[in-house]
Formats: sequence, C-alpha cells, structure tokens
Amino acid sequence: MNATHTEPIPNPLDRQAGFVVPAALEAEIDELISHYPAKRSASLMVLHAIQDRFGWISQEAVEWTTRKLDLQPIHVYELVTFYPMFRQQPMGKYQIKVCRTLSCALGGSHPLHEHFCGALGLDHTKHGPQTTKDGKFTVEFVECLAGCGTAPVMMVNDDFYESVSHAKADEILGKCK
Ligand code: FES
Repeated sequence: MNATHTEPIPNPLDRQAGFVVPAALEAEIDELISHYPAKRSASLMVLHAIQDRFGWISQEAVEWTTRKLDLQPIHVYELVTFYPMFRQQPMGKYQIKVCRTLSCALGGSHPLHEHFCGALGLDHTKHGPQTTKDGKFTVEFVECLAGCGTAPVMMVNDDFYESVSHAKADEILGKCK
C-alpha cells in the first residue's frame, strides 16, 4: 500500500516541542530497518529506539516513525497504544514500579504503593502512572514481575527489589539522587 500520510491519528498523543531525531539515532534506526525484509516489520524496534532516547513516544515521534517507515499514522499509533511498555507521557528519572498481582497484593503491595505516593506527594487513588512535579519520580502499579515468592516486589528503572518493607522503600528512595 502506498502511504499518503493523510489519515489523522484517532486521539492525538501528547505533543513534544522540539522533537528532533539526532543523526546518530537515525543512523542506528536505519541500521535496524535494514535487518527486516519490509520496513513495517521494524516498527516495534524503531519505537523502542525512540523511547530509549526520549523516554516516551509523543505524537511527533509517531509522525516521524510513520514517515520513516512509509506507513499511515494509525499503523504506528495502534502499536503505541496497544503495548503497555510504550510510554505515552514523559516519565520521571526514576520509574518506580510496584507489582500489584495476587502474591504481591497479599504481601502488601497496595500499602507499599500508598507509602511511595505519600512520600512523594502523589495521590495513591489515581489510576495509572503518576510523576512528581519536578520530573524526578514516576510511581505506578504493574503486573507480575516474576518474583512472587518474595512479595512484595518492585523495580526502580532496571533494578529489582524483593520483600520491600516500608523502611526498605525509604532506603531505596534515599538512594535516588
Ligand atoms: S505477583 Fe508480584 S511478582 Fe508475581
């Protein structure tokens, strides 16, 4: 199918002023695309590369990817909105993910989440990720992190923590500079 780039994105994502893909990243993305027989097959990898660089996927990022892969915006938008690993808003420098699946829920993940929200001035009753005003922390619930035997478990960025008491939570926060 020939791409005309005329179909609008159904519900526009957040805008990102000054979105520019640096030459080095574009070269990396071109290299990624070269591994696939059809450009479209590289969509997820391209989005991951963009998110690794910018931390989230904005409307501008979707439009750029659309042009890069000769697609319609909906083809990229549907991936960003389907897969939970793609972020649709800027995230904090430290992303705190508290598991809320059964073992962790029974092991105290809800009070733990509330503890983090209280410590960071966030509303634990709100749905979805919440980010502090200074952009330093994002707190959210996630599903099973595969550490069910040592509930409650959580992650800060790529670091994994088990059997997290409230005291341990404070210690973890204290290490986030
Ligand atoms: S239920 Fe929390 S890690 Fe599996």
